[in-house]
Amino acid sequence: MHSMNSVIPKIVPRLSDTLKIVEGLPDKGIKPGRLGLMSLEGFRYYVYDAQRSQNFYLNNLGFKKVAQSIKDTDKKLGHATAVYGAGHARVEVASPIDDRSWAKKFLDIHPDGVSNLIFRVKDLDYAIAFLAERGACFIDHHPLEVEGDGGHHRSISIASPLGDVVFTFVERSMKYDNYAPGFERVGDLTPRTEFNYRFVDHITSNTRTMMPTIWFYKYILGMDEYWNIQFHTADTEPDEDVCLDWHKNSGLRSIVMWDPDSGIKFATNEPLAPNYYNSQISKYCDDNFGSGVQHVALAVPEITEVVEELYDRKVLFLDSPDEYYSQLPERMQLKKIFNLDKPIDRLKELGILLDGEENHYLLQIFMKDSATSHMDPKAGPFFYELIQRRGHQGFGEGNFRALFEAIEGEQSKGHDVNRDEVLDSAQN
Ligand SMILES: [Fe+2]
Repeated sequence: MHSMNSVIPKIVPRLSDTLKIVEGLPDKGIKPGRLGLMSLEGFRYYVYDAQRSQNFYLNNLGFKKVAQSIKDTDKKLGHATAVYGAGHARVEVASPIDDRSWAKKFLDIHPDGVSNLIFRVKDLDYAIAFLAERGACFIDHHPLEVEGDGGHHRSISIASPLGDVVFTFVERSMKYDNYAPGFERVGDLTPRTEFNYRFVDHITSNTRTMMPTIWFYKYILGMDEYWNIQFHTADTEPDEDVCLDWHKNSGLRSIVMWDPDSGIKFATNEPLAPNYYNSQISKYCDDNFGSGVQHVALAVPEITEVVEELYDRKVLFLDSPDEYYSQLPERMQLKKIFNLDKPIDRLKELGILLDGEENHYLLQIFMKDSATSHMDPKAGPFFYELIQRRGHQGFGEGNFRALFEAIEGEQSKGHDVNRDEVLDSAQN
């Protein structure tokens, strides 16, 4: 008779064993406790209407086409992929061509949305050992390896607690000239665009409960906490009856994790009680049919110029209440921001938000979500943020509070403010 312990396979190696594996690898200059992340290589986005996405990226956002999947690969995977890029930001837009494909299965469950986050690592063998010792769940049994196109490209994927989002790690040699195996490169890998998009500043996800994802970032990927916030519109409503009024209050908690070596940052949100189900975070999970990536923030060097042009190209942005801007001079005094190089009226005209302290600030704006922009629920609740940083590395903490106070101010005057829209814009 076997004891229970003897029949259960030891699928997760003991930390002490695997630490030896990592220690036994050649020194790649990776700090202890880090995965060796270099950058965000890109992210994959499943859509059911590839032509609409092409129009959006090329004609509206001003991205350039980087690569196109080749037909043989499309047949094998059951989806066709176009890669659009701007600076160091890249999005793989994939749409199903076969009903048995994972892309189709994803879209049977979810609306359009992010399915893969793809990271470049210094050394894939090191990353695999690192991930294995921490109990990561591998999707690929072996790394996918290709020699050719002037160098080599190796990758491996793991599952995550963030809904159906897969995390992929890529090692590519400096001389590797393609985007990835199975693609034909049709443009520069880091295309310069007229708006000078620079890179992905951060990625924000929404969950029903965030700690499994936070622990994944911390214990599997070796990231550190960067920042956190907890916010509820009932915070200044001591009257319990008001707090429990379902259509009046909602809230969120958010933790930002980061990899200090690469600077990659991830915010993760969860709804905050009371009125858990009224939270925008919960509504996102309803619309997305599960947890997922809510927005990607693109760093730009001069936000006002980009936003003005994008308005002309019919890109839709969230509105901010006038009261936000009437309170802004006072907030800037309090926060000691005296070096804003553009008039507040210009920010108001464009709907751009400001936050920071001690003459370090950021400017940010949120596009309307894809479902609203395309007037199609199947386009999903994902959206882009644009962010310009002038020395401030925060996440717009002041905007959460300021927007909230602006709403309260408007309501006390009896104005009709669309709380949902404003809270949307306050999500990191
Ligand atoms: Fe954000």
